[in-house]
Amino acid sequence: MTALDNQQLTAAWKAHDQAAAAMATGPGQVFTPRALALQLAHTTLQPLQEAPQLLDPACGCGALLLGAIEWAFEHRPQWLACWAQGGIAGYDSDPACVAACQQAVSLALGRQAAQAISRRDSLQLSAQPCWDVVLANPPWVSFSGRHAVKLGRESRAFLAEQFAAFRGWPALHAAFCQQIAALVQPTGRIGLLLPLQMADLPAYAVARQMLEARHRLETLTDLGEAAFAGVTEPAGMFVFAPATGPAARAQWSTEQDHQVLRWAGRIAPLPTSAFGDIGIHSGNAAAFMFSATCKQGLLPVRQGRDIAAFSLAPAALWLNTGALPPGMYGRIPDPGVFQRARILLRQTAERPIAARHEPVAAFRNSVLACLGAPGHDDDYLLGVLNSALMARIHRALHRDARQRSFPQLKVGHLRALPVPGREIGPLYDAIAAAARDCQTARPGSSEQLERLVESAYAAASAS
Ligand SMILES: C[S@@+](CC[C@H](N)C(=O)[O-])C[C@H]1O[C@@H](n2cnc3c(N)ncnc32)[C@H](O)[C@@H]1O
Repeated sequence: MTALDNQQLTAAWKAHDQAAAAMATGPGQVFTPRALALQLAHTTLQPLQEAPQLLDPACGCGALLLGAIEWAFEHRPQWLACWAQGGIAGYDSDPACVAACQQAVSLALGRQAAQAISRRDSLQLSAQPCWDVVLANPPWVSFSGRHAVKLGRESRAFLAEQFAAFRGWPALHAAFCQQIAALVQPTGRIGLLLPLQMADLPAYAVARQMLEARHRLETLTDLGEAAFAGVTEPAGMFVFAPATGPAARAQWSTEQDHQVLRWAGRIAPLPTSAFGDIGIHSGNAAAFMFSATCKQGLLPVRQGRDIAAFSLAPAALWLNTGALPPGMYGRIPDPGVFQRARILLRQTAERPIAARHEPVAAFRNSVLACLGAPGHDDDYLLGVLNSALMARIHRALHRDARQRSFPQLKVGHLRALPVPGREIGPLYDAIAAAARDCQTARPGSSEQLERLVESAYAAASAS
């Protein structure tokens, strides 16, 4: 057993964090925070008793390796002697990452362990299934779609030829999934941090098939939109076990999905009349109706992009209410209609994003309206609608919300969302108060709101 102690671990993480902070981040170069690295290590390694030969094929500055080492230090200290002699390895194509990872691993386990960290292009390795465990947060880089990164013709041809998963969706993380599946023994385990949409986007079907060729998905955890600094794409933790054995194959949906779907069955939605698509439909007359500059006689008009959670920007567009010229059509509701909207929601969004409708103005149909609901407090509704839990419920109920490049919130989606009523007791007013605090950006208010909303759903589904 090595003489690893807390001081060494602290020094190793410090070296990791300093190197990661100094490294250029960007697509494919985002480093895992310590708590998440530990969570991945725990979920993946917990069933194992013998020291596994472990690889991170995209090791960056070593977060996942340190997470595994720290987890073993706590729970399987007998593994560390094997890992100190090269049983834990890391590859990265970036020499700066390799140097940083070597330093961090050497501080934790000694110089010999650091020799197992080397510069390699993991997608060029011959895929021999010689590892017991692979942990990876592979580069999330797509060469198609909204966030496409450019890729040279030769590299594209190489990746397409080598990886069927890349042909399904041209992305490095898709190719990595196939490569990782091939590197792990059939008796081994895999722990991956990936875009959550890999669970259900049809274009990732081949990557899913490859991962399930010899392993089965054991758990899938929705990590939300804040797992990695600077990344808003929802992340997931995907853990695979050997395909053999008695345990059932998990669905490619998260445990939280199942939970929220259970809630959706037990908690009623708001009445249909609570939501409406009542904004201006510009038909073929947008150029006539809207002006980016404020001129006399024009009225302010809001659009979806003016809405952020709990805050509404002033209108940046102006509306001409004059009669439409012949041949043009569109719909401008009476001014009183806009007054009825108590809360505005952004329509181009993959989750509810809501703000109080103050000051009142006209709005386009890129905005949906919440008209309030009998017995409900507007601040309460605002708090529930903006909560991370509601985002998860929405994604679970409407899986197509994950699958679209330009996701749209529909009135039908809003009308289906379960919303607890006053049966939750004092939690109701506490949520309304936390939502008021969120509107004034009081420190700690959004964390408080999330805790209260979680409790409210648990209470409502139990009652
Ligand atoms: C998302 S970062 C994760 C780093 C580290 N595992 C972590 O979790 O903090 C992905 C890493 O993959 C590396 N990488 C990208 N393409 C690679 C390739 N073809 N082979 C090996 N490493 C690669 C990048 O340099 C980057 O360090």
